[in-house]
Amino acid sequence: MWRKAIRRILPSVPQWATVALESQERSVTAELCWDGGRADATDDHTIASLKPLTVATSIDAGACPVLRYIDAATGRGLGTLRLTKARSFVAANADIHLYEVAAGEHRCLPSPLREWTAWRQNRNMLRHRAANHLNMAPAAAQQLMISYLCPRPVVLVSVDTGTHRNIFPMDLIGPLASAGLFTLALRSSNVSEPVIRDVGRVALSHPPASIKAAVYGLARHHKDALARWDDLSLPIVSSGQFGIPALASALCVQEMTIVHSVVVGSHTFFVARMASSELRHAGAQLHHTAGFHQYERKRRGMPFPEV
Ligand SMILES: Cc1cc2nc3c(=O)[nH]c(=O)nc-3n(C[C@H](O)[C@H](O)[C@H](O)COP(=O)(O)O)c2cc1C
Repeated sequence: MWRKAIRRILPSVPQWATVALESQERSVTAELCWDGGRADATDDHTIASLKPLTVATSIDAGACPVLRYIDAATGRGLGTLRLTKARSFVAANADIHLYEVAAGEHRCLPSPLREWTAWRQNRNMLRHRAANHLNMAPAAAQQLMISYLCPRPVVLVSVDTGTHRNIFPMDLIGPLASAGLFTLALRSSNVSEPVIRDVGRVALSHPPASIKAAVYGLARHHKDALARWDDLSLPIVSSGQFGIPALASALCVQEMTIVHSVVVGSHTFFVARMASSELRHAGAQLHHTAGFHQYERKRRGMPFPEV
């Protein structure tokens, strides 16, 4: 009864929004703040693991920094993650620091819609635990959504060794710009994880937002490798140097050489150097952001184009 009444007053905010953005758009910036210091981390923080939820950066931000997400147009703080340093390691002569997320909050929804939305999303996650591919505690999933305040591009990662071939979507990716490195967090149970560690080369195809359904369809290859490239419904072409099959309609194709890999909780965290980057087409790329972020932008009359 009371739930029906609340639903009439408070709208339903989805967990995620799939949006079409130009890759160079910087709608949200990220800043690491610690005792006596701060640094722009927009292009220098990525997710290393979902369980425990872990952020990687090449910025040494001390033991307990705060990661702030700020709307680039208005300067308004959208959300924060409180971090605790877990460990550091060296990859390709660069220090990389792993921070576990201790707490998080966002200011995208007014109260009580914020509390109601979190309660409803948490309840749904617990109810549909078996089908929830994130396999995270509700509080950690809420913190993960805060990290998506910087919209994350979706790419198709492909690998080919002659005996093993695969292509699947990833969005836990991104640069550690100060170190000149790029990272990918891949669930250790992924069927291609040992192959990527062994062969040390992948191609990243940046798909146009218009082929969202086909991109999502390829998520099944996180579990099952591709039998033949001819089985793909999407046309492919070879990447420039490595000759790895990549998406023909990709806006951009990048080749990565893996220089280091480390298991961080549920994921294998690959550290790579970009070997090539080829812009092929103009257009908007598929991105993910948090549903509460898109809601906040709609309220301001500036929603991201949704796909
Ligand atoms: C758009 C998209 C992006 C994804 N990005 C990643 C990623 O970055 N890392 C990862 O390990 N899995 C990624 N996945 C895979 C899912 O998290 C999940 O493991 C996979 O779909 C298998 O789900 P299931 O175990 O529930 O069947 C992605 C899936 C989709 C659809």
